[in-house]
Amino acid sequence: MRDEGILMTDPLPEEERDEVTLRPHHMEDFIGQADLKERLAILIEAAKQRGESVDHVLFSGPPGLGKTSLAGILAIEMEAHFQATSGPALERPGDLAAVITNLERGDVLFIDEIHRLPRQVEEVLYPAMEDFQLDIVVGKGPAARSIRLDLPPFTLVGATTRVGRVAPPLRDRFGYVARLDYYNSADLARIVVRSAEILDVEVTADGADAVAYRSRGTPRIANRLLRRVRDYAAVRSDGVVDGPTALQALRVFEVDDAGLDKVDRAVLESIITKFGGGPVGLSTLAIAVGEEPETVEDAYEPFLLQEGFIQRTPRGRIATSRAYEHIGLAPPDPGGQGTLIP
Ligand SMILES: Nc1ncnc2c1ncn2[C@@H]1O[C@H](COP(=O)(O)OP(=O)(O)OP(=O)(O)O)[C@@H](O)[C@H]1O
Ligand SMILES: [Mg+2]
Repeated sequence: MRDEGILMTDPLPEEERDEVTLRPHHMEDFIGQADLKERLAILIEAAKQRGESVDHVLFSGPPGLGKTSLAGILAIEMEAHFQATSGPALERPGDLAAVITNLERGDVLFIDEIHRLPRQVEEVLYPAMEDFQLDIVVGKGPAARSIRLDLPPFTLVGATTRVGRVAPPLRDRFGYVARLDYYNSADLARIVVRSAEILDVEVTADGADAVAYRSRGTPRIANRLLRRVRDYAAVRSDGVVDGPTALQALRVFEVDDAGLDKVDRAVLESIITKFGGGPVGLSTLAIAVGEEPETVEDAYEPFLLQEGFIQRTPRGRIATSRAYEHIGLAPPDPGGQGTLIP
């Protein structure tokens, strides 16, 4: 295990295998996000009824909330082949042409991190999405000519953690843009119970709640904390994940009662002690805590913002009074007028 924040949202290398085991494969195994699931179910059933492929779908939302899982579920429910690639992997138009000409009728083409698709590749994708046609240039120089290929109808499923960076013409070509939100504790507890069953871990309701409450709304983190708590229970206790065991284990792994890990706390402490409470710019702050600016922005900041530990202002990030309290320091005097003498 890396000695970093345990709560960063990207999958750790050891987790990639487990993620496949824990990933829900059918709509009924996918917990929470009820409204989104209902809309997807309608899309799928209607397409099946017409004997057509599902309209293109874009999933957006923070890492670890189930975008890749839903793309897989969509393919399984449609009984379609699932072909996966990603924005950065499709460097040139030819890369996309190679993938797309392999598709069969009704296949699901999944493009992860679609906001990182190069512009020239994106332009090839437009007619493919809209008219199931592929325009490619063959040959070079004066001999170059453009040829047009008909494609079988397919479903493009895109996923992005940065919907704001998806070019509007691309976004507009999706029939449905689905936004995943953070999960509530009750849904996370159900996810913990489900994962515990798959991993053959005995967990009590209190144990599941303790893990769920500190998972910052993210199933991937719930699963990660469950594995750490399971390890602790196996070697320091009787193997059962109950409430007290879960709390002790989380303390050992430096996850505090607000669900913050040590990088979160380092962010708050830096803003307060090194930058006088802020405002401080993202890149300066990232250097101070030894993380990439993207990691701070994508993995740590959203939760700290949502929980009211920090605020974003045009001039940078500032620590709120909740942050001072959490770190155990007195908030600065509002307005800086000096202390009143009684
Ligand atoms: N609704 C859910 N019910 C049960 N398990 C879930 C759910 N959503 C996610 N998970 C679990 O969380 C893990 C991460 O989900 P997934 O890989 O689909 O997230 P993602 O949104 O694609 O993340 P990223 O942005 O990093 O690609 C999955 O392996 C799965 O075990
Ligand atoms: Mg994914």
